[in-house]
Amino acid sequence: MPSTAITHIKTLITNDPSLGTGPLGQLQDAALVIEGDRIAWIGTSSRAPATDSHLDAGGRSVIPGFVDSHAHLLFAGDRTAEFHARMAGRPYAAGGIATTVAATRAAGDAELARRLACFRQEMARQGTTTVETKSGYGLTVADEARALRVAARQLTEVTYLGAHIVAPEYADDPAGYVALVTGPMLDACAPHARWIDVFCERGAFDADQARAVLLAGRDRGLGLRVHANQLGHGPGVTLAVELGAASADHCTHLTDADVDALAQGRTVATLLPGCEFSTRAPYPDARRLLDAGVRVALATDCNPGSSFTSSMPFCLAVAVREMGMTPDEALWSATAGGAAALDRTDIGRLAPGTRADLALLDAPSPVHLAYRPGVPLVAAVWRDGVRVG
Ligand code: NIG
Ligand code: FE
Repeated sequence: MPSTAITHIKTLITNDPSLGTGPLGQLQDAALVIEGDRIAWIGTSSRAPATDSHLDAGGRSVIPGFVDSHAHLLFAGDRTAEFHARMAGRPYAAGGIATTVAATRAAGDAELARRLACFRQEMARQGTTTVETKSGYGLTVADEARALRVAARQLTEVTYLGAHIVAPEYADDPAGYVALVTGPMLDACAPHARWIDVFCERGAFDADQARAVLLAGRDRGLGLRVHANQLGHGPGVTLAVELGAASADHCTHLTDADVDALAQGRTVATLLPGCEFSTRAPYPDARRLLDAGVRVALATDCNPGSSFTSSMPFCLAVAVREMGMTPDEALWSATAGGAAALDRTDIGRLAPGTRADLALLDAPSPVHLAYRPGVPLVAAVWRDGVRVG
C-alpha cells in the first residue's frame, strides 16, 4: 500500500487526548503517515518513518477534515429573490421551501447528481471531508426516492426528510401526508438512506406527527435526527432526546428544560450559524449548552433558503464571534462534534486506524480559522487518503 508522510507540521490537531495535549490532542512539530485510506502513524516530526512520498508542511497546521453533519444539497434553482426581500426587511418563513420543491421536481436526475458533485467539490476545497445530505425538496414518493438514490451514489450519510413540510398537494390533509411519509414513501426511501429527519416546528410538523415519523423510520432501521427549535420554542429537542436521536439540529430557542434534557441524554446539539446569519435571527447560545455539558456540533445547513453557505470555516468563525465558543471548542465541534452527530468514530479525529481525512492549513495554528475570517486558509485536503482539494 502506498504511504505518504506529512512532516514539519507546526500544530497538529488529532482530537485524541491520548495523543497530545488538551481536549484537541494537540501536537507541535509533528508528522503523520497516510497508508492507503487510513492514518498509519502520528508522532514527532524528527521520528517520522521512511515512506514512498513526502510532503513538508513547512510550519503550517493540520486538522481532521471538517464533518458537515447537516446539509440539504439535493435541490435545483436558488432563492435569490427571497434573500433579497429578506435583506430588505421581510422575515424568513419555512413557506419558501415550496419554491425549491417546484424547481427540484422539474430537474432531471443527472442535474441533481451534477449539482451534488459540485457542492462536494466546493466543500472539499474548504476542508470538508464528510457531508451529510437530506432529501426534502421532492415530497412525492418518486421525487424523494430518486433524490436519495442520487445521493447514495456519492455519499454514505444520506437522510430521508420527506417530513420537511407538508407537500402542497396535501395542504388540506396533513394527516394523509404523514401517512404517506410513514408508509409508501418510507418504503421507497429507506433502502437509500441511513437516517430519518423531521422538521418539528410550528408550520411544519407537530410533536405527535414528528414522533410518528421518527418511530416509523426507526422501525425500518434508520437512525434519528430532528430539525428542532429553529424558529421558536417547541417540543423538538425533548422529543429528539427522548427517542435517543443522534442529533437535534438548530437548537436556537431553548428552555432550561431543553438544555437539561440535552445534558442528560446522548443527543448531540448541532448548531447552524449560517442559518441565523442568513435569516438575521438571533444566534443559538453555544456557551449555555457547553457550560451545561452538552456535546455541540457545528454544520452549515447548506440549502438555498435559510443558509446558502457550504463553508465550515465561515460557520466556525461566526460561532466564535457570535455564539460564545472558544476557537478550540468551535474546531472540535466542526470536526469531532460532527462525527459524534453522525455516530462515527472513524472520522473527525486523526489517530492510527482512522480514515485519512485531513486538511492542511496555511496558518501556524487553526486558531487562525476564526482569527482571520473569510481568508481561504485551506491549502490541501485528503479524503480517504486521496488529495481532493
Ligand atoms: O434547516 N428548517 C428547515 N429546513 C431548512 C430550510 C430549508 C429552506 O428554507 O429551503 C433549514 O433551515
Ligand atoms: Fe436543515
